[in-house]
Amino acid sequence: MPKIVQQDGRFALLVDGQPYLMLGGQIGNSSAWPSLLPQVWPSLEAMHANTAEAPVYWEVMEPTPGKFDFTNVDALVTGAREHHLHLILLWFGTWKNGNDHYVPEWIKTDTVRYPRMINPRGEPIDVLSANSPANLAADKHAFVELMRHLRTIDGKEHTVLMIQVENESGGVGSVRDFSLVAEQQFEGNVPDELVSALHKTPGTWKQVFAGDADEYFQAYSQAKYMNEVAAAGKAEFPIPMYMNVWLSYPPAELPERRIPNPGIGYPSGGAVQRMVPLWKAMAPSIDVIAPDMYSDDSTFFRETLNTYSRPDNALMIPECGGGLNYARYFFYALGHGAIGFSPFGVDRIGWGMPAPAAGAPASAEDSQRGGHGENFALIAPMDRVIAELNFHGKLKTAVEEPGSAQQEIDFGPWQATVSFGFPQPDGRRPPGSTGNIGRALVAQLGPDEFLVTGMQAAVAFHQPGHLPGLRMQILRAEEGTYQDGVWHLTRLLNGDQTDRGLQFRDRPTVVRVRVGRF
Ligand code: DGJ
Repeated sequence: MPKIVQQDGRFALLVDGQPYLMLGGQIGNSSAWPSLLPQVWPSLEAMHANTAEAPVYWEVMEPTPGKFDFTNVDALVTGAREHHLHLILLWFGTWKNGNDHYVPEWIKTDTVRYPRMINPRGEPIDVLSANSPANLAADKHAFVELMRHLRTIDGKEHTVLMIQVENESGGVGSVRDFSLVAEQQFEGNVPDELVSALHKTPGTWKQVFAGDADEYFQAYSQAKYMNEVAAAGKAEFPIPMYMNVWLSYPPAELPERRIPNPGIGYPSGGAVQRMVPLWKAMAPSIDVIAPDMYSDDSTFFRETLNTYSRPDNALMIPECGGGLNYARYFFYALGHGAIGFSPFGVDRIGWGMPAPAAGAPASAEDSQRGGHGENFALIAPMDRVIAELNFHGKLKTAVEEPGSAQQEIDFGPWQATVSFGFPQPDGRRPPGSTGNIGRALVAQLGPDEFLVTGMQAAVAFHQPGHLPGLRMQILRAEEGTYQDGVWHLTRLLNGDQTDRGLQFRDRPTVVRVRVGRF
């Protein structure tokens, strides 16, 4: 079974017993239909993805209570197999982007039995209440049927690697549920399990969390709800489960006003940055809390990677935008030990990565243009090798930022100077690349041996305190490729290809280099 393991503070998603790096592509919200999938698979292939992230719609799967239709799910599993892809299925259940838009019509129209969240003005909104046992029971029942079905059709093949429980859970339109049931709970004391997990002093929600009480109450209610859904699903078919998060973003152009605005700026109750400790403690059946990345501000992106890569949480980016910035940040994620990275909207049928020219069909070129395709083309042939090296803490990356065209990667007795942009004339600092898109990856294969790749970068090894070339030499630099984990030499590099560092320009290039001291 696929599973997430941890060792020395690092994580791996094990697939068939080996670390797996998910190079994903999330398909459009309304693309998981047998009629559309023939257009979807070529986009994923053009992107060199190894995994498709695709939704399962509750409204389609359970059109009448207790009657299940798995046609769309089966089409996804069959199609993924035919296209040699793994799958991550996204359960669009109670929550989708902080609303309830994917619940079946029989739930949408029966607000007495399946109550909505009530806002502070006493009005129902289009979010199901997390404080309703009936809502929980209905979602759990459907999710369990899905997992049971997957056990039947995928118990041996393991095409489906992980399940996303709900989608960007939370409430848009109210900081918490103000229904009578929720009000009664809110008046009581904060449950002991939460008080002790967050090292608080017991008391009512207002006493313990003061001005943040509403959001904490909503997050607690949702975490318990989703944990129960995940646990029940796992009891049927125990594959890893994660949740994705609509983050709390600083308001545009007002970075000094970093005021979190739950229910307006983001769906209240989700595992936004400051709610991660609550969610980790209250939803142990959810293996990973994974941030959706829709800001290409470099500082924000890096802060977010730091927040979500924790000793108790594997880093995984289940969604991000397209474009060269996001593509560059893939290397930041790798440097943080990410188990997966997946741009959103790869099939271009609707909202997604930069759209093709008006009226033009999505083509392979379009998929490349998002910038992610060239990363995946570079890494996909050695995805297992990279996942293994990362799991064992052997991999480091350098990412170009404006004004930092030269960076150091430190392996102790060996260091690597990474210089971005070409040409790099003698006696001058490297120029930086056009658009600052340089990135490099160095992984240690042995005491004096490294795997190196990148784009718009030159990488020169040296000893600490010595310039490259002083009391060290390249013994052998092999350009080559991995096929099924086995290295194949293309040529030896020397002379102009090594004297000013190993060079990685536009053509995907991977080098294994052995260095020596004298
Ligand atoms: C984040 C959601 O999780 C996705 O399903 C999709 O709606 C994207 N936003 C783009 O809007």
